[in-house]
Amino acid sequence: MDLKLAELAALERYKLLIGLVIPRPIAWISTRSANGVANCAPFSFFNVFSEDPPLCVVGINPRSDGALKHSLKNIRRTREFVVNLVDEATANAMHQSSREYAEDESEFEKAGLAEAPAMLVRHPRIAEAAACLECRLFRLIEISGTRQLVLGEILLIHARDGIIDPQTKRISEERYKPVGRLFANRYCTTRQRFNLPGPLPD
Ligand SMILES: Cc1cc2nc3c(=O)[nH]c(=O)nc-3n(C[C@H](O)[C@H](O)[C@H](O)COP(=O)(O)O)c2cc1C
Repeated sequence: MDLKLAELAALERYKLLIGLVIPRPIAWISTRSANGVANCAPFSFFNVFSEDPPLCVVGINPRSDGALKHSLKNIRRTREFVVNLVDEATANAMHQSSREYAEDESEFEKAGLAEAPAMLVRHPRIAEAAACLECRLFRLIEISGTRQLVLGEILLIHARDGIIDPQTKRISEERYKPVGRLFANRYCTTRQRFNLPGPLPD
């Protein structure tokens, strides 16, 4: 089958792209709104882009009523944000925090999460997250009326104790159990890992 994207409706493109390019990592962005309320929401049009400079990228579209997402509003206003990485222990809270709450409601409270102070940015990080990336806005590119590309410069990594070996800087496979986004409400773990060349696990 060959599909020309220009001939497809946007929803069809969306379904195809998010179904084929899987699993995607999830940026669980935490910010504080202008009214002081802590905000967090997941974004899977996300990845790290480079290490020199250390950049991550996030694609943000409007809320269902066409309004700007609170995360984007807060990033625009403060030029800072935190990316919290989602693991098995926090997956349900992440999913719960994706609902479109009003600006005076905190996803932290709704999803039973605690705020922890970040070191270099003014926004809270998610205390329960396995690891957090404190970011300063590097560029904000308006791709279209409905799509903004956020490039964040990663200033600091905070990780739960035991995840990063302080000497080697290796990440513990036993202790870091990230969750990836598939499509719709489907997610995956990274429990089956293997070396190549070699046999694949059953
Ligand atoms: C796993 C997951 C991934 C998501 N990825 C994106 C994304 O890449 N871009 C986006 O604009 N919204 C994405 N969303 C939807 C936002 O999380 C959702 O609209 C949220 O309510 C935005 O909150 P905010 O207005 O507080 O920023 C995703 C939702 C889930 C559950």
